[in-house]
Amino acid sequence: MKEKIDELNKSFSDSQPEEILGYFLNKHKNKIAFGSSLGAEDQVLTDMIAKIDKSAKIFTLDTGRLFPETYNLIEKTNKKYGINIDVYFPDKEMVEKMVKEKGINLFYESIENRKLCCHVRKVVPLHRALEGIEVWITGIRKDQTITRFFNSHVEWDDSSKIIKVNPLLNWTEKQVWEYIRKYEVPYNELHDKGFPSIGCQPCTRAVQPGEDIRGGRWWWEQPEHKECGLHNRNK
Ligand code: ADX
Ligand code: SF4
Repeated sequence: MKEKIDELNKSFSDSQPEEILGYFLNKHKNKIAFGSSLGAEDQVLTDMIAKIDKSAKIFTLDTGRLFPETYNLIEKTNKKYGINIDVYFPDKEMVEKMVKEKGINLFYESIENRKLCCHVRKVVPLHRALEGIEVWITGIRKDQTITRFFNSHVEWDDSSKIIKVNPLLNWTEKQVWEYIRKYEVPYNELHDKGFPSIGCQPCTRAVQPGEDIRGGRWWWEQPEHKECGLHNRNK
C-alpha cells in the first residue's frame, strides 16, 4: 500500500485539485466520500465534486454545537448544486453520559475533556460515515497549521483504515478565495465577520486581522494540541 501511495503522490505532485478528484471519483465510484465542515476549502471541493459527479457522497458531522450560519449553508449548498449532503449525528447515549458526568461545556475545563467531546461528537460519527468507504476526501491545507505541514495529497489513515485524499493540500488561502469569487461558490456568512476557520460555536471565535487563521479555534489551547482527532498526525 505504501508503495502505491508514494507512486500516486509522485504522479499528482503538479496536478490541479480537479484532476486528483476526477481520478479518485472515477476509480472508487460509490466507495468514496467527501467529509465537509462547510468551511471555505470544503465549499470549493463541493463545487468541484458537483461539477464532476453530483451523486458522489458528501457528508457532514453535525456535532449538535454548530453555528446557525453553518446549518443555513447546508441548505443553501444542497439547493444550489441539487445535491443532498448526508448529515451524521453523534450517538445520543454517549453524549448524554458525557454531559451528565462532565457538564455541558466540559471542553473549557481541560484538554482531556475537549478531546473527549471531539471524540464523541466527531470521531465516532466519522467512523460511521466512513463505513464501507475506500477513499475519504478532506479539505485540509498545509499552511492551516503546524500539525498539517507533513501531510501529503494521498495518505493511508491508519485509524480509519482508509485512503485519505487532500486535493487542496498545497493551495493558499488566497487561492481558495479566488476560486470562491470566480465561481460564486456559496460560503459561510461568518467568514465575512472575522472567522477564517469555523468549527463548533463554543470552540470558535473571530480573529483580528493578521492573527493566525486558526487562532480562533480552541483559542485557549496551544497550537500543537489543536486537532480534534479527525486528522491524526500519521507521519
Ligand atoms: S478540525 O479538525 O480542525 O475540526 P478543520 O475545520 O480544519 O478540521 O477541517 C479540516 C477538514 O476536516 C475539512 O476540510 C473536512 O474535510 C474535515 N472536517 C472538519 N470538520 C468536519 C465536519 N464537521 N464534518 C465533516 N468533515 C469535517
Ligand atoms: Fe465539542 Fe468543541 Fe470539539 Fe465541538 S469542537 S466537538 S463542541 S470540543
